[in-house]
Amino acid sequence: MKVVVVGATGVVGRKMIQVLEEHNFPLTRIYAVASEKSVGTKIPFKQSEIEVITPEEALLAKPDVALFSAGATASKRWAPKFAGAGTTVIDNSSAWRMEPQVPLVIPEINGNILKTSHRIIANPNCSTIQMLMAIAPLHQKFGIKRIVVSTYQSVSGSGKKGIEQLMNERNHKKGPKAYPHSIDLNVLPHAGDFTENGYTTEEEKLVNETRKILNDKDILISATAARVPVTGGHSESINLELKKPWAMEEVIFMLNQMPGLVVQDDPKNNVYPMPITAQEKDDVFVGRIRRDSSVKNGINLWVVADNLRKGAATNAVQIAEYLINQKLLGQ
Ligand SMILES: NC(=O)c1ccc[n+]([C@@H]2O[C@H](COP(=O)([O-])OP(=O)(O)OC[C@H]3O[C@@H](n4cnc5c(N)ncnc54)[C@H](OP(=O)(O)O)[C@@H]3O)[C@@H](O)[C@H]2O)c1
Repeated sequence: MKVVVVGATGVVGRKMIQVLEEHNFPLTRIYAVASEKSVGTKIPFKQSEIEVITPEEALLAKPDVALFSAGATASKRWAPKFAGAGTTVIDNSSAWRMEPQVPLVIPEINGNILKTSHRIIANPNCSTIQMLMAIAPLHQKFGIKRIVVSTYQSVSGSGKKGIEQLMNERNHKKGPKAYPHSIDLNVLPHAGDFTENGYTTEEEKLVNETRKILNDKDILISATAARVPVTGGHSESINLELKKPWAMEEVIFMLNQMPGLVVQDDPKNNVYPMPITAQEKDDVFVGRIRRDSSVKNGINLWVVADNLRKGAATNAVQIAEYLINQKLLGQ
């Protein structure tokens, strides 16, 4: 299996290479691609290093799998070229997610929609992945009528430049800005770009991607996305209005059954999910599970995950592993 990571010098790309190594992914050769300015950069892999090459060079190698994390513009340009050469592309950007013919996949939830013929597969947005890991089992059992979600997103969600701005501010250094205001000691009610309707692109992704993955256009969703001065790990406050009455034991049972989801809920002992404890973990964590008596069948959850892992790199590698295990990789 020849694998190429496109965007290999970025925070997600580097994590993809790390996750491939940790998962002992069955590869015979790995290629690293980034923009022109990074060609020749060395990226550590196992006991060795991979040298960054151009997309054109990687294309000539006819890789079996391409993991893309190079942004939407690069993905729009290069993903069809790799797909045309027979490579199965798993893309982390927003370029293909809402294309009707492109599957948008969280393997534990809807891996079963994948087919051998799919040459471009989209990885959902980080905030969508962790929310759905916690709410999909409840949707299956009780049906979700309405979701109100507020995110507290880390600066690594904005890539290298987000971490750089936070660290520069902490060290009283000047540098390029990822955000229009200071992020250290601050909270920005602004993640992504503002759209005509007053919501941001990050908020719209939560709405549209949730409906596509759960294959349910009727779910009502209201999202607010905020950026917080945390280096890694997104947190989410999720309020659900379920269609059917629920009991706490059933909810805990369903959440415990979900692969890749860990219930961390012992508030009396100060046990609940936090970015600091979720960092570098492939799992998604759920806690603060409690009834919302202000609406019929209401429930509140607090969900945390490492946005670079299950929110991006881990989910992409798991899609590739799913394709291999189900013998779905294109011929
Ligand atoms: N960060 C997250 O939590 C997260 C989560 C889910 C999805 N994503 C998505 O993943 C993608 C990458 O995000 P990131 O956070 O890793 O950003 P990043 O740290 O800024 O990295 C961007 C990567 O893309 C490469 N790149 C840029 N233009 C390119 C081009 N024309 N051809 C080839 N490579 C190019 C960059 O190479 P150079 O180093 O040479 O510039 C770098 O390797 C984005 O689409 C983002 O929306 C991010």
